[in-house]
Amino acid sequence: MALRFSGRLRTTWRTGPRSSVSTRVMAAQDKVRAMAEINTVGVVGGGLMGHGIAQVSAQSGCEVVLREVDEPMLGKAIGMIEKQLARAVEKGRSSQADADAVRGRIDGSVDYGALADCDLVIEAATEDLEGKLAMWREVDDIVKDAAIFATNTSSLPVIAQAAQTKRPDRFLGLHFFNPAQVMKLLEVVRCVTTSAETVATGVEWGQKLGKVTVVTQDKAGFIVNRLLVPYLLDGMRAYEENVGTIAEIDNAMKAGAGHPMGPLTLADFVGLDTLSAISDIMFEEFREKRFARPPLLRKMLMAGWYGRKSGMGFYDYSGDTPVPNAQISLPA
Ligand code: 3HC
Repeated sequence: MALRFSGRLRTTWRTGPRSSVSTRVMAAQDKVRAMAEINTVGVVGGGLMGHGIAQVSAQSGCEVVLREVDEPMLGKAIGMIEKQLARAVEKGRSSQADADAVRGRIDGSVDYGALADCDLVIEAATEDLEGKLAMWREVDDIVKDAAIFATNTSSLPVIAQAAQTKRPDRFLGLHFFNPAQVMKLLEVVRCVTTSAETVATGVEWGQKLGKVTVVTQDKAGFIVNRLLVPYLLDGMRAYEENVGTIAEIDNAMKAGAGHPMGPLTLADFVGLDTLSAISDIMFEEFREKRFARPPLLRKMLMAGWYGRKSGMGFYDYSGDTPVPNAQISLPA
């Protein structure tokens, strides 16, 4: 079913630029045909990434099943989506009827059985390989054979998950960026078992979502995190070494390099726990110092400072406007 958002919203939600990279990939594959049309999407995990993936999928016209572990978590995920939809209506970017139609395409469930008829199932759970493997073992027996499975992992090997399923050829990485509703990129990750048809289906579906699709190999961090994570960790090291204050480092990168957020704001935004898990996986893979967690990050996690989501990170989010965290004490 096509969406009928107002012109500006349609620009934002439906018609991201078609990537020349993905166009070239399609040509290079001698126009490999996509396996199947993706009409029903299952999203496992409704956290920071999962709720956004569910929302953009529904905005593209797909029916969505969003699975969470329990009712309170599911309620939180659906609440985040409803808040974003209400914001779009408030700002005049969507009519109430269109927002209602998007919401109407999203079904929540705490039961894996609800995923049975999905054409595509994407996991967006915590970066814990054992947890993901246990989930796929269960889901693999439930979901129809023709369906494609995808992981939104940012750093774990895609093949480690694909190999646990009975459909390693129909398994790929689909890596979204936070906020998934806004960021234009979708990394389509081909692991050693992913078929050309599955890659083509991932690219085609990403384009249906209005994303710029880039096909990448199954190497920890893919393209973006390979470059972004060492940069964020270096921002922390610069702060540890008193190169500048939190605000100075962030302002410098915004004004000097044109970034929308400075590295310490972005680290808080991604989540310090998530960033820490990603950097550990990348350090394990590459054994290079640039991927190692700086001591300050370890200590902040011990203090329970996970960034924006916990209310405290490099910034304190308890007031109306975030202010640098005055409790971080560095040696003079
Ligand atoms: N959900 C939906 N929409 C959102 C949103 C959210 N969580 N946050 C912001 N938006 C929308 C707003 O509605 C607004 O739309 P409008 O202009 O049409 O009204 C638009 O985005 C801009 O938002 P704001 O005016 O509130 O704020 P900013 O102009 O500062 O933009 C930002 C916010 C888009 C997040 C921008 O600061 C940005 O691009 N930051 C960088 C984010 C980034 O680098 N993400 C990648 C992280 S790495 C990653 O995800 C990989 C993982 O593996 C770790």
